[in-house]
Amino acid sequence: MAHTVRTKSMRLAIATTLVATAAAQNGTYSTDSIRWAPCPAEVAAAPVVCGELLVPLDYTNDRSNETLTLQLAKVPAITQPSRGSVLMNFGGPGNDGRTMLGQYAPFLPLGSGGEFDLIAIDPRGTGNTIPFSCYQNETLRRAGQATVRQERANSSDATPGRLWAEAQVLANDCGNALANTTGSLVGTAFVARDFMKVVDALGEDGLIRYWGFSYGSYLGSTIAAMFPDRIDRMVLDGIVNIHEWQAGLTVEAVIDYDKTFKGFLDACVAHPDNCALARGSSNGSGNRTAGALEASLYDLLDRIKHAPFAVGSRIIDYTALQNLINAGLRSPPTWPELAEILDAILDGPDLSRLASLLQNSALLNVWSPGNEAYPGIRCGDQKFRTTDPEALAPYNAARNALSRLGGDEGLATAMQCARWPMAARERYEGDFRVRTRHPILLIGNYADPVTPLASAKNASAGFEGERGAGAQGVWARLHRAVVDLHDHGRSQVPHVRRAACAGHELRGRPAGVRAASWERVDAGGGCPSQAIHFLRGAVKVSVACLNAARSAVH
Ligand SMILES: *[C@@H]1O[C@H](CO)[C@@H](O)[C@H](O)[C@H]1NC(C)=O
Ligand SMILES: *[C@@H]1O[C@H](CO)[C@@H](O)[C@H](O)[C@H]1NC(C)=O
Ligand SMILES: *[C@@H]1O[C@H](CO)[C@@H](O)[C@H](O)[C@H]1NC(C)=O
Ligand SMILES: *[C@@H]1O[C@H](CO)[C@@H](O)[C@H](O)[C@H]1NC(C)=O
Ligand SMILES: *[C@@H]1O[C@H](CO)[C@@H](O)[C@H](O)[C@H]1NC(C)=O
Ligand SMILES: *[C@@H]1O[C@H](CO)[C@@H](O)[C@H](O)[C@H]1NC(C)=O
Ligand SMILES: *[C@@H]1O[C@H](CO)[C@@H](O)[C@H](O)[C@H]1NC(C)=O
Ligand SMILES: *[C@@H]1O[C@H](CO)[C@@H](O)[C@H](O)[C@H]1NC(C)=O
Repeated sequence: MAHTVRTKSMRLAIATTLVATAAAQNGTYSTDSIRWAPCPAEVAAAPVVCGELLVPLDYTNDRSNETLTLQLAKVPAITQPSRGSVLMNFGGPGNDGRTMLGQYAPFLPLGSGGEFDLIAIDPRGTGNTIPFSCYQNETLRRAGQATVRQERANSSDATPGRLWAEAQVLANDCGNALANTTGSLVGTAFVARDFMKVVDALGEDGLIRYWGFSYGSYLGSTIAAMFPDRIDRMVLDGIVNIHEWQAGLTVEAVIDYDKTFKGFLDACVAHPDNCALARGSSNGSGNRTAGALEASLYDLLDRIKHAPFAVGSRIIDYTALQNLINAGLRSPPTWPELAEILDAILDGPDLSRLASLLQNSALLNVWSPGNEAYPGIRCGDQKFRTTDPEALAPYNAARNALSRLGGDEGLATAMQCARWPMAARERYEGDFRVRTRHPILLIGNYADPVTPLASAKNASAGFEGERGAGAQGVWARLHRAVVDLHDHGRSQVPHVRRAACAGHELRGRPAGVRAASWERVDAGGGCPSQAIHFLRGAVKVSVACLNAARSAVH
């Protein structure tokens, strides 16, 4: 088998916080059954059901009988009997599985043809599964967050130094709160083993069917690399650079960031009826061009560093503006809203208009798992550590060279991980060059600000033992998967039907936005790409994979 797994010291003691968790779950370790029952109301409504399964707490310690109760949720197949189960992961890391499956339940079964049970697991660190929390309560968390502000690196020349100090604060808070132990148990390799325990307990064919988005592509790649013989069907969509993720310092992520921003502006200018920014609401500045808009927005970003302003009790500064743009680029249905907000800022700013736009804006909810699970999982997984902030200079320069707009986005996380006091007890340390039992379906998009096509191509080079497959690798593989679906109607890839395009809307659709509909990409290119009809442009969001897969099979 073409992988190596590093096993960390088995002598690490289980510290107090964990004993508390484990004590409540002490029982005979058993993987033979999952008990399904109605979900708690706050998790999901029928038809979703919830289940539990005991798994080993620490896979590296076979003398321990301590267990962990994995929590699962299932959307039963519409057509019974089910043809099997598809295990899902919604990314993050830090997103739970159960509530997200609950949210997506109205769409996903259609998206998978309704023939499979769809199962999500709360990965370690999320939900109630060893929740990764460095603070005893929300008051303390808010105090911590007031210190660890995570400003964008370019907000001032003093910011990188401050971020470095903040990273140590987070390391101190988390290291002390968790006695460095929880952080050793939430790594992706353990989660991969948990997923296989679920496969075992399901008692189907012993093979995994898996559908993962974003970070779920790293989890899926890890499962594939650790258990290549047990892969039935695997769909990875919105793929991170798995090698960079493994080592730390993810540079490639931003390679299409500016292109996505440009796509947003082009789409805006092409559809002024649905894009305030193109119309120009004031100053007689109507009929702006994309190039002029781009220039004025970069100019605004520069000016706002020294001239932040207040909207009610909120400050719009460089970081806030960058975060708004970042959130918008990830979610094309919010583009008209993003355009309104940017227009209102350029327009003076128009404070009363901004106040009303920002009041309930989803764009303000910068993604966050609600606790510290993101660094807890991500930083524990990666190898890179340093005590010298200068060691991050090449990373910072490389990101800025790839993206003018997004290059300074990652420094806060990079520094947190560099100073992180914990490490996963097990990490997959191989090279991801494996031949899986069945080829993996890898999906990338032409303009994705976080999980670019280049990273999908990169992953495709290793799987199946192909070497240097280059650009055609993804397309070729995709094509084969499509052919496979057509030729073998009973394929178990979750194939996505038209109704699934509504999946895009499950994130909420701002008033005035026409229903999302999707363009199919010409089959010549092979790779599906999606564009929202009302703003034609190359786009990608994590949910767009539904549509990508749909395009792939119809
Ligand atoms: C589990 O139960 C056994 C037997 O009751 C006990 O000795 C052990 O300390 C328990 N483990 C934990 C973590 O509570
Ligand atoms: C778990 O291990 C402890 C110590 O090794 C032992 O005392 C206990 O009986 C075991 N519990 C179970 C349920 O096997
Ligand atoms: C939060 O935890 C701290 C430390 O235990 C405690 O002093 C404080 O009262 C708690 N605050 C709330 C609102 O529970
Ligand atoms: C956690 O690990 C760090 C670095 O290894 C160490 O400095 C710190 O004392 C540890 N914290 C605890 C509570 O063990
Ligand atoms: C913008 O273009 C439209 C259609 O070409 C035209 O009717 C309108 O007068 C223009 N507005 C401005 C401010 O130039
Ligand atoms: C509109 O006018 C205001 C006030 O004169 C000015 O500050 C702002 O930059 C102008 N906006 C654009 C897009 O020209
Ligand atoms: C951030 O700073 C780097 C240089 O350190 C520069 O290349 C990049 O364009 C800047 N980006 C923004 C949005 O200011
Ligand atoms: C994939 O990305 C890693 C990290 O950047 C790089 O070292 C490797 O050469 C890439 N592989 C291919 C085939 O591009």
